[in-house]
Amino acid sequence: VVRSTVAWHGHVGRDPFARLQLTEGRRDPYPLYEEVRRRGPLVPTPLAGHQTASHRVCREVLRDRRFGVQSEEALNRGDGELSLLELDPPDHTRLRRLVAPSFTPRALAGTRERVGAVVDGLLDAVPAGEPFDLVGALASPLPIRVITDLLGVPDDDSAAFARDGATIGSALAGVQSLGHVVRLLEANRRLGALLEEVFEQHRREPRDDLVSRLLAVEGDQVRPGELAPLCRLLLVAGFETTVNLIGNTVLALLAHPDQWREVVEDPSLAAAAVEETLRWDPPVQRTFRSPHEDLELAGVPLARGSMVMLLLAGANRDPEVFAEPGRFDLHRYADRSAPAAEHLSFSAGLHYCLGAPLARLEAVVAVERLAERFPRLQRAGRVRRRRGGTVIRGPAALVVGQRSG
Ligand code: HEM
Repeated sequence: VVRSTVAWHGHVGRDPFARLQLTEGRRDPYPLYEEVRRRGPLVPTPLAGHQTASHRVCREVLRDRRFGVQSEEALNRGDGELSLLELDPPDHTRLRRLVAPSFTPRALAGTRERVGAVVDGLLDAVPAGEPFDLVGALASPLPIRVITDLLGVPDDDSAAFARDGATIGSALAGVQSLGHVVRLLEANRRLGALLEEVFEQHRREPRDDLVSRLLAVEGDQVRPGELAPLCRLLLVAGFETTVNLIGNTVLALLAHPDQWREVVEDPSLAAAAVEETLRWDPPVQRTFRSPHEDLELAGVPLARGSMVMLLLAGANRDPEVFAEPGRFDLHRYADRSAPAAEHLSFSAGLHYCLGAPLARLEAVVAVERLAERFPRLQRAGRVRRRRGGTVIRGPAALVVGQRSG
């Protein structure tokens, strides 16, 4: 038993997917993705079935209807407490159709101004001439303000939402301790109660916001019990992700000062910088899918219900698709007539991130305004990477200052 346990640990210890969860992967997961890709397009992992860092295989799985997100366990639970992300068609199709129109670039056209005003307000509050934490001052509060606005959560409640949403969002980065579990459960309960209150208010006084539009079709296209998990996902999905897109973009640009200068000289390059950051250092590093039937993928037989870990951040550096994939170069996406291939950082297929246009808008406006108002921005301290799990990647704090002269 001892020998086989030691052998098993040795086996796991060499597995790149296992090493992703350790200090090695937290510091720099990218060499581990390379290792996975070197081993083949689809390789077993003792922890989670199979793993892939191949752009082609990841894309294929995400778009293949024979793969789903609904685990056996969730199906058995069948308690209606599943969010979009955990549902397969037909429930997924029905609910996604209800919310999708509110998140298209066209629907968001009017939001740009509001995002700009929030960014300006947050930057106005930064102490002049002193170093400040860009995450706490801008990247973290921005997505919360914007999504509570869109949903129609009253301003008085948005601070409470922000607190509880952040706690719940932090679970995405990995549950860290028993204390964390307790806080999580409490935050979940409070957020549920707060949502109920918001629903009540909106039932009494419908307005022109997303919650009112959803309530209008309750009982018809939305079953009782579906509304809360849907709104909860909309709130939380943008918290721990958009904050890191802003953090990772600024981090990448300040690590490549020539490219920061280019953005300062031409803020319209902010969109390309955000897009290249999504490819090069994405906030969501991986997802998974499970086949609904026995099938073959990349020549490997997979059993129904097994797991395939899709290392999206690894796929984004697949040399089959991107030239010199390890190099950060905003010019890949600067020429709109011939952009680089699509990264997979917002996933693909049915579950393609609903909030992608909103996340891009927030990050682009944040970077544009920073470039205009803080042209001599530079790092002023050590970067603290987020603790906890390795699905989400971004700085917990990013202290910046302005170069003098
Ligand atoms: C789904 C990433 C921001 C709402 C997803 C998925 C990814 C992702 C990778 C799909 C996961 C999978 O296929 O298994 C990101 C990143 C963001 C971001 C990197 C920011 C940089 C947002 C925002 C919202 C949002 C701001 C707010 C509305 C959603 C929803 C889904 C989703 C509702 C589920 C869609 C479905 O299952 O049909 N996101 N997201 N996301 N995202 Fe985002």
